[in-house]
Amino acid sequence: MSSKAVVTPRAPDGASFEIYLAWSDCTLNVEANQTALQVLLEAGVAISPGCFTGGCGECATAYVEGDMIHKDSCLNAADRQRLFCPCVSRARTSIVIAE
Ligand code: FES
Repeated sequence: MSSKAVVTPRAPDGASFEIYLAWSDCTLNVEANQTALQVLLEAGVAISPGCFTGGCGECATAYVEGDMIHKDSCLNAADRQRLFCPCVSRARTSIVIAE
């Protein structure tokens, strides 16, 4: 369990944030002009996106830490406690993904 994901300052909506991949001990930076999906795919994370607009849920990815800014229209409140759609959603803090 990593604690470094929650020590970063809170970022405004649309700002850059970090994704920590727990299985590879790798931190990815999502710049303000990128989506988390772009960054995860470029890093080789196995995600099969569909709509790219937050509507289908195909890209839904589990996270274990982080304060998400959910922008999808497909996940319910319970889903959002453990999943986010990286094609549209962002985060106020660093987040941790554990495969
Ligand atoms: S690709 Fe459809 S919700 Fe992300």
